[in-house]
Amino acid sequence: MRIAVIGGTGKEGRGLVLRLAASGEDAVLIGSRQAEKARAKAEELNRQLGRTAIVGLENRAAARAADLVILCVPYAAHQETLRAIAPDLCGKILVDTTVPLDPRDPSRLRRRSEQSAAEEAQALLGESVRVVAAFQNVSAAVLQNLQRTIECDILVCGDDAAAKEIVIALIHRLGLRAWDAGPLRMARAVEEITPLLISLNRRYGSQSAGIRITGVKETASSP
Ligand SMILES: NC(=O)c1ccc[n+]([C@@H]2O[C@H](COP(=O)([O-])OP(=O)(O)OC[C@H]3O[C@@H](n4cnc5c(N)ncnc54)[C@H](OP(=O)(O)O)[C@@H]3O)[C@@H](O)[C@H]2O)c1
Repeated sequence: MRIAVIGGTGKEGRGLVLRLAASGEDAVLIGSRQAEKARAKAEELNRQLGRTAIVGLENRAAARAADLVILCVPYAAHQETLRAIAPDLCGKILVDTTVPLDPRDPSRLRRRSEQSAAEEAQALLGESVRVVAAFQNVSAAVLQNLQRTIECDILVCGDDAAAKEIVIALIHRLGLRAWDAGPLRMARAVEEITPLLISLNRRYGSQSAGIRITGVKETASSP
């Protein structure tokens, strides 16, 4: 599966690109507003991996070339970025990692509406794109350190069961635990966890607070 990470030049995106490439995905594409920036980041990450598994492209070209697209841009750029890549997402799955954090105080949310960012994405893109929300609670610092085991479960929300299954299988290939957390509207609750984790990181001098679901039995495809 060809996977594009839009905003793959940034903190969370870079971590996901590295983890996807290290887990052996066929092709991982970094999307950026600037093709040259994407190419430079791809070169840097390929050097870090010790093989050529990552390609850098401008956002639209990356989305067009991918089977599945992961969105990793700040909430302030969410709508603008979605509008830019929308024509290239038709028939595809969009995985939205966005948390609408208040830029002045990331221990709070500052939403544009009552909905989660992923619901806003679904409303903007329409039914031809299946939006799945995931990765909002996993810290970029943890993702970027390939030597480190990720001690954070991934909650996966979406209104299309088949799309969620594909994303859950992808997360399992990264060696992570993933849970079907219900319809896309449940992403509102998942988003709320991130400012809490940021507050815990601040209080305890960490960068890697995460969540674990206990008391539920995983399915056979889990790692
Ligand atoms: N950081 C974390 O630990 C973390 C954890 C969970 C979820 N998330 C979510 O992941 C998303 C990305 O977070 P991040 O920390 O990786 O952000 P970031 O590093 O600040 O930005 C990511 C990328 O987004 C693009 N971008 C930045 N500002 C933009 C703008 N105004 N307009 C268009 N594109 C812009 C840039 O790519 P180009 O310049 O190359 O286009 C940038 O490299 C956020 O929605 C965040 O809530 C982050």
